[in-house]
Amino acid sequence: METINLDFALNGKRVSREGIPGNMMLVDFLREELGLTGTKFCCGIAVCRVCTVSVARVEGAHEEAVRSCTTPVGDINGHYVTTVEGLEGNGVLHPLQQAFLENFSFQCGYCCPGFLMASYALLDSLKRQPIPAEKVDEAIEDAVGQHVCRCTGYVRYHKAIRQVIEETPGLVT
Ligand code: FES
Ligand code: FES
Repeated sequence: METINLDFALNGKRVSREGIPGNMMLVDFLREELGLTGTKFCCGIAVCRVCTVSVARVEGAHEEAVRSCTTPVGDINGHYVTTVEGLEGNGVLHPLQQAFLENFSFQCGYCCPGFLMASYALLDSLKRQPIPAEKVDEAIEDAVGQHVCRCTGYVRYHKAIRQVIEETPGLVT
């Protein structure tokens, strides 16, 4: 089997590994090689989006929601990956995490990391290009509308994301 050498940034720290199978998917690398089990696995075929992480192709570039179950590790070589473990800082939850808690957005929580990372990429997009208030619902739907929650927490996720967008200065024109 072909192996590759990996070197990329993960949650602000450099990760280097040699001899990783080139066909290993990012979700497996995160969970099995690095023990970062915050990123979940479910369908494995890019449908449910539970495995979503955020990737910036170069440092400071826009964040992109990426399904790690169908992304070979080689595809993120040299890039900047953020997973749910990278959201909290110095013991303080990210505003999205706090809002999801306050709004009781999740029940079992299995889908939550995927919703978080897609919303994280959405916030980054809005920071770069704010939108009119009347477009916020549409933007949220575009970002997380295809994420599956078997506990059907969609409305409360939507409400929490909207709350963060409204409370964060500069995202809405
Ligand atoms: S596990 Fe379902 S989209 Fe990745
Ligand atoms: S909270 Fe259980 S799957 Fe979404």
